[in-house]
Formats: sequence, structure tokens, C-alpha cells
Amino acid sequence: MVNKPVYMDNHATTRVDPRVLTAMLPWFTEHYGNAGSVAHPFGWDALEAVDNARKSVAQSIGARDREIVFTSGATESNNLAIRGVSQAPRRRGNHLISLKTEHKAVLDPLKRLARQGFEITVLDVAEADREDTGMVDLDRLRDTIGDETILVSVMLANNEIGTLQPIREIADICHSKGVPLHCDATQAIGKISVDVTQLDIDYLSFSAHKIYGPKGIGGFYIRRRPTGARLLPQLDGGGQEHGLRSGTLNVPGIVGLAEAMRLCDEVRLEEEPRVHAIRDRLAKSLQSAVRDTLLNGPPLGADNHLSNNLNLTFCGVDGEALMMSMRDLAVSSGSACTSANPEPSHVLRAIGRSDEDTRASLRFGIGRFNTEEEVDFAVSLISDTVSRLRKMGNPS
Ligand SMILES: Cc1ncc(COP(=O)(O)O)c(C=O)c1O
Repeated sequence: MVNKPVYMDNHATTRVDPRVLTAMLPWFTEHYGNAGSVAHPFGWDALEAVDNARKSVAQSIGARDREIVFTSGATESNNLAIRGVSQAPRRRGNHLISLKTEHKAVLDPLKRLARQGFEITVLDVAEADREDTGMVDLDRLRDTIGDETILVSVMLANNEIGTLQPIREIADICHSKGVPLHCDATQAIGKISVDVTQLDIDYLSFSAHKIYGPKGIGGFYIRRRPTGARLLPQLDGGGQEHGLRSGTLNVPGIVGLAEAMRLCDEVRLEEEPRVHAIRDRLAKSLQSAVRDTLLNGPPLGADNHLSNNLNLTFCGVDGEALMMSMRDLAVSSGSACTSANPEPSHVLRAIGRSDEDTRASLRFGIGRFNTEEEVDFAVSLISDTVSRLRKMGNPS
């Protein structure tokens, strides 16, 4: 028996793992001190929990404790990187580079900077139906970096089509030209191993609610150079987080983020192949049950495709209508984070899909709690619904 509705929208958000919730609970009602209260045990307890969480988060991504800043999520972390670098004192220029397939939490701050007079280059990515769909052209990137470039921002894993970018190679190119690299790793953290030292990243964004942690808490990694941080804080106030992010620390959230990351590291070797197999079962069954589907993203099973992601176009069907007529299955017709905006997905457009194909697409995000039975349920629901909608569209 399958419990309905079935949730397959784990790129949008995830269910909090009960083990994460258990770790968080005491920090609401028993140990509710302010980590900034240095004069009594309530504050000391809270500070100790934050320090431990910081150590654990740092260890998980190969960073040092003082390089971790807690934020409200990846949107804030991305804004801190982009706005912060653009406003840094003694910056060398006014040019920033990113990709067309980035999340709006990167693209929109860049648009604002463009309105303020900054020069922004948003690079194309490889088109659909190729081995490297969604990937940046490294030669183009190299040629685009100039003397005025102050930041390159490239995501690790795409939230719609699952493309993994060659971040270490990108970092090498940036650093050979003396330019820092920001990486939005929101969809990668917890799913693949991410080590900022090995990847040679300068700024990294991540979020708890994509990895079975709570909403409203995230992290930012900032590489500490001998000269200190080269970005301007975006929130001023109590001077928390070494002055980089003022505001009373969200102690239960921070504990939850650290526990969510620790659990992901603990179970990854077992979880990744299981999730991968469920995703493959879904893809193969859908592709054989439903004719005329297109895969959006690199080939399934390739090293450059995130293993919990599947994005398919059901040609000739309206994705919105498809979703609306399948109330028992939670998936997404684009980026859930931008669902307030009815525009067809900018990511699918960037890989060259027509607006019609883009509207006929569904994104599946497989997660820790999905089962094979749920896949079989989803396949039969989707194939029935697609054939019904196609018949309605083409009555013979
Ligand atoms: C790649 C990526 N970056 C940033 C965000 C925003 O994260 P948050 O919800 O933590 O602000 C998301 C959320 O969908 C995402 O997928």
C-alpha cells in the first residue's frame, strides 16, 4: 500500500528527518538561551551547541570552524556572496560572471547589480540532448574573465535538470586569473561529497531544508585569507558571526542543520545507490510506458547528473494540466522556488527547449523516504494521465 499523496519534490524541500527533529527539540523549551548571553549558563549551553554544530558543519565540507557563517538559508548566503563582494572595499573592478541556469537567488541579485551599473555576464550552457547538457564551456569562461572581474558564481548541482558542474576546473581557471569563486551547493550538499578545500572554493552556499533539516536555516562558507574576509556584511547589528551576519543565532535551526549534514554523511554510502536505483526505475518505467518523452539534463547515470534528479518532457501535454490532474503525486513543473512566477522555466529555456516543451515538463526529486512502490504508483498515474490528456488534445 502506498500512502497518498506521494511526495517526489525533494528538490523543492524535504521532510525533516525524525532524528534531526529529536536533536533540535531540547533547544526550544529546555535550553532556550541566547548564544550571545555570556553571563549565565543558559547562554553558555546555547553557545556550546552552536560551537559544536559549527565544528560538525565545517568538518562535513572540509572547512575550518571560523569559516562557517550561519544564515537563514541559501538565498541569504547567495546574496551575501554576490552583494557582499560587489560592495567590498578596494574591489578591483565591477564585472561579475555567472550562468543562465543558476537559481534566481543568484540571478536576481546580479540583475539588481546590473541596474546599479555593474557589468554582468551570464554565460550560456550546453544544449539539451548532449553528454554535457547544462554544463559551462570552460574556454568561454576563461575568455570572459577580465581584469575587471571580481566574482564568478557557478552552482554545483542544478536544481531542475541535475547537471553537475566541473567546479574544481572552474576554480582553477578563476584562480589563475586571481578571481574568487562562489558556488551555490544547495542541491549538492548531502547528496555528493563536497570538500571546499579539494574543490578550492572561496564562498559556498547551502541550506538545511533540502537535506532533511528545518526551513529557515542555512550556511555560508567563506575562505579566510590572511587578509580576512573580502566582502561587506549585509546585516549589521549585534556583530554575531564575526560581524559577517548580525542577528540572534537560531540555535535549534543550527543544531538541526548540523545534524542533517552529519546524517547525510553517515548514510550516504548506503543512501546514494538506493536513491539512484529508485530514480532509474522511475525514468526507465516512464520512458517505456509513455511515448514521446524527452530527457532534460545530461544522460542518466552519467557522472555529471545528480542521481536523485529526473526532468522529463511529455511532448504535447501541458505540465501544469498534468500536475493538476494528479493530485496524489507531488512533483514540480519548474523550479518550486519560483512558482510564484508562471514563466516557463529559465533553465529548460537555457538548454534550448521550446516554451511548449518546457510547459510539458515535470521535475522529480527522489529522496530518502521514497520507495519502489511509490515509483510504480507514480508511473501508472502519469502514464494514464498523459494518455488521457493527449486524447483530449487530439480527439480522433
Ligand atoms: C540551487 C538553489 N539555490 C538556492 C535555493 C534557495 O534556498 P533557500 O530556500 O534555502 O533560500 C534553492 C532552493 O530551491 C536552490 O535549489
